[in-house]
Amino acid sequence: MPPPRRAALGLLPLLLLLLLPPAPEAANKPTPCQRCRGLVDKFNQGMVDTAKKNFGGGNTAWEEKTLSKYEFSEIRLLEILEGLCEGSDFECNQMLEAQEEHLEAWWLQLKNEYPDLFEWFCVKTLKVCCLPGTYGPDCLECQGGSQRPCSGNGHCSGDGSRQGDGSCRCHVGYQGPLCADCMDGYFSSLRNETHSFCTACDESCKTCLGPTNRDCGECEVGWVLEEGACVECDSSCVGCTGEGPGNCKECIPGYARELGQCADVDECSLAEKACVRKNENCYNTPGSYVCVCPDGFEETEDACVPPAEADVTEESATQPPVHEDL
Ligand SMILES: *[C@@H]1O[C@H](CO)[C@@H](O)[C@H](O)[C@H]1NC(C)=O
Repeated sequence: MPPPRRAALGLLPLLLLLLLPPAPEAANKPTPCQRCRGLVDKFNQGMVDTAKKNFGGGNTAWEEKTLSKYEFSEIRLLEILEGLCEGSDFECNQMLEAQEEHLEAWWLQLKNEYPDLFEWFCVKTLKVCCLPGTYGPDCLECQGGSQRPCSGNGHCSGDGSRQGDGSCRCHVGYQGPLCADCMDGYFSSLRNETHSFCTACDESCKTCLGPTNRDCGECEVGWVLEEGACVECDSSCVGCTGEGPGNCKECIPGYARELGQCADVDECSLAEKACVRKNENCYNTPGSYVCVCPDGFEETEDACVPPAEADVTEESATQPPVHEDL
């Protein structure tokens, strides 16, 4: 078999690009709709940039006439098209090349009838996008309608694209198929036919009907109902029947009941030594303790070694048999 020719090899990536279907929502790769929208945005920017181009200052009658000619001219269209794609943006140029005729037809004939280029080009003509509030191959209305999808409290799957299923992904605090219901920990602060607002409960509530700790339906874990309000358990408690360290159901680790209250256990003064290495110091801390070698002592697995001994053991342990320096 003869070796493949260079030219043929060079064309291969291009062919693959054209033949392979676009990967669905591949990482970072713009969807066809996003690409179309990008092109339209640049086109609109080009229209702004070329408006009144080459004409400065007061408009004479001659300028007015020439201007209106230029306004709808093929020259202006070419100037706009030139600015649409970066020279290195292969996909943009490819799309532009394929769609140039459409854009020209719109520019020369359809602009008045369909002033919104995005709608005419990306939605109606290429059918790669949908109008906002609609989704999927046939641009159906999102859950909750196209005006305020998901009650304005969530994102409609596929909104504005030919993808997705129109279901709602609700913002924090909202739930339900239309994102009109409140999550646990939120209460409905306003609800009418079209709008639903949920507001966070006080931190002491698991559920609530209003904003304060007196509006809880149920207290949050670590809080307890006392005289109509949820109050916080003491930090030394696991569960409690009221405020303070005297109302704990149980004590947190490192604390024990002493005179009816949960109090810190001094591990360093227990009969059973907390710090077991030789020469080691013990320091009590709230809920725990630390074991530390005294200053200057060296730390080993089972002892704190005094400085003098450390030198000796280190030398005998690490010195090589041959003394190069001596
Ligand atoms: C519902 O509430 C919103 C927000 O306050 C308000 O703008 C809207 O007019 C209300 N709609 C009705 C039907 O009352």
